[in-house]
Amino acid sequence: MHFVILSGSQRDKSQSIKISKWLAKVLDESDATTDIISMADNPLPFWDDSAWDKDSELAAHAKPYQERMAKADGVILVAPEWHGMVPGALKNFLLYVGSAQTAHKPCLLVGVSTSTGGAYPIAELRVSGYKNNRMVYIPDHLIVRNAENVMNDHDMSAEDGEDIYIKKRALYSLNVLRTYTQALRDMREKHDLFDPAYPFGM
Ligand SMILES: Cc1cc2nc3c(=O)[nH]c(=O)nc-3n(C[C@H](O)[C@H](O)[C@H](O)COP(=O)(O)O)c2cc1C
Repeated sequence: MHFVILSGSQRDKSQSIKISKWLAKVLDESDATTDIISMADNPLPFWDDSAWDKDSELAAHAKPYQERMAKADGVILVAPEWHGMVPGALKNFLLYVGSAQTAHKPCLLVGVSTSTGGAYPIAELRVSGYKNNRMVYIPDHLIVRNAENVMNDHDMSAEDGEDIYIKKRALYSLNVLRTYTQALRDMREKHDLFDPAYPFGM
């Protein structure tokens, strides 16, 4: 089982990359493998019309990332809340990802806030962020609040407190994601859901 984790922060030393690595370590220590794609330093140029042309420089730039997305059985989207929104680099990255890479693959959404926010990026993605890539956002999402103070290690021995709460909840969410990943992989193997008449969602 292979997971791609998109760390949605453009910042070099972000809480999003810390949380992405936390989740990856848990998965890597199971029978799964992971690949973190970080939006730090904006890996892809701003999308423009030339991206439609498969011989363009932009298409060549995007190809290795699209191939990495295509290898995923499941996806984790870690989206920090920036001015109540998903950061531009993550939205730009998602413009390069379509059904060919991610259709009917489960995705765990993770909102991140340094204070008590974190719900808006989840809401923003849930409204329409699956339309053309056809990812299946699973019903359980995570919101990591007070991010600087939590998930700084994998010590699960504490009895209570904000840190142990979100760590335990993260383990629960990863288990749900893994179960969907197995089920939807079987479904995709058995059923060809692609119809060239409908390349995009409504
Ligand atoms: C441009 C910008 C806007 C932000 N806006 C919000 C916000 O609207 N709500 C919020 O809870 N935190 C906001 N934050 C703080 C983030 O929650 C904080 O940076 C957190 O660590 C997650 O982002 P990171 O992954 O980049 O570290 C903002 C941070 C930046 C850089």
